[in-house]
Amino acid sequence: AAATIDPHPTGPSAPASGCPYQSGSGTTTDPCRDYLGLREEEPVRWDEDLELWFVTGFGAATELLRHPALSSAWPERGSTPLHAAAGGAGGDGARTSGLVRKWFMFNDNPAHHRARKLVAPLFSAERVAAHQPFIEGLVAELLAADGDSLEIMEGLAIPLSGRVICRILGLDAALAPHLEPWALDVAALLVADYLPEVVSRGHAALQDMTALIDRALEGELPEGSALHLLRQAHRDGEIELQDVWATATFLIYAGFETTSTFIGKAVRSILHTNSWERLREADMGLAVEELLRFDTSVQQVARLATETFEVGGQKIAAGDLVLIMLGTANRDGEVFDRPDHLDHDRRIRRHLGFGFGAHYCLGAGLARLEARIALEGLRDKWETLRFLEPPRTRSHFGITALEHLVVTGAQAR
Ligand code: HEM
Repeated sequence: AAATIDPHPTGPSAPASGCPYQSGSGTTTDPCRDYLGLREEEPVRWDEDLELWFVTGFGAATELLRHPALSSAWPERGSTPLHAAAGGAGGDGARTSGLVRKWFMFNDNPAHHRARKLVAPLFSAERVAAHQPFIEGLVAELLAADGDSLEIMEGLAIPLSGRVICRILGLDAALAPHLEPWALDVAALLVADYLPEVVSRGHAALQDMTALIDRALEGELPEGSALHLLRQAHRDGEIELQDVWATATFLIYAGFETTSTFIGKAVRSILHTNSWERLREADMGLAVEELLRFDTSVQQVARLATETFEVGGQKIAAGDLVLIMLGTANRDGEVFDRPDHLDHDRRIRRHLGFGFGAHYCLGAGLARLEARIALEGLRDKWETLRFLEPPRTRSHFGITALEHLVVTGAQAR
């Protein structure tokens, strides 16, 4: 059961450059498609204009995601994303200054391991499975709304991922609608710290989030929630209050838009390839893996070389910036048969949709569960499905987010 996607435009586009809110619309204007043009180049390639390495081959990407000479921490210099969050260009607010720098995704060992280990039990297979009835109830509630059409993002993906992340944190579900504007402002801060307006909005968003976290910390918190766990670790003197804010804001950021975007992209990929009917017969677990391979929400991750070393016949020098293109590596013809075909029955040994190595997505199991239940809910409700309007996208910091995705079709009786 394979389907062909539209031909992609070629030629690398500059990720993480210029306006953080590039918008586009139509069914063929997905900026991540541009990254596929990179496959025609070497799997590890220096870009003269951007002055950084692009890694697009699956083998090189997996090797580099585990490489000891590549750091996840960003340097303090002019226009790097974390410069702003560390209180650089136009930075304000002592409270949020340096907060993003503490996010464990942007740390190496031992700080990375220490912070990850603390919250990792919340994401064990058992704990994730315990959220299943809640997620099923939520999807049923969201899909119960009447109507001949559905806007997938506002109607399903955003409230679902927002309310699930609130539950993980132990935050009131009423806060979920506030997450999207915050996530956008923080994402912009990560990519465009050289724009003072973006910096002050990003800091304001972090400030709001930490104020809200403080309020939640003062009250009753559900046992087993992230904030309950972090508060206890703080009371036990294991971590500072700054660490509580950092890990809590990071979990909100890491778990929210990634997941809503993926659910939107999954629907878009299926409709793009006219494979809704085939999906109805597929094993949804396998289909979700293939959809993650085909078009994941996090297209790239960045690393900084701490030593000079060789990979794929290229010499990466200490201080070089390396962009590992997860989405492009997931379309590597050396590893995947007919890589540009969406095949809901494909059995995938490994893809890079959730990264690889020490920073492998901690929320992968949760994201898979949310996506599977959302797609099953849609499949049960809609016998046929098609775009009512061209999807609208927005691109920032490695995430090509969907702004608007309206679908319609025949509903099951
Ligand atoms: C890390 C993707 C959902 C929490 C990552 C990374 C990727 C990723 C690619 C690796 C970053 C790197 O190597 O620098 C995704 C995708 C998701 C998703 C595509 C949805 C489909 C979630 C959810 C959570 C979550 C629901 C839970 C709250 C995390 C955390 C990390 C991470 C905590 C950092 C891991 C570390 O640095 O050790 N994610 N993610 N993610 N993700 Fe996810």
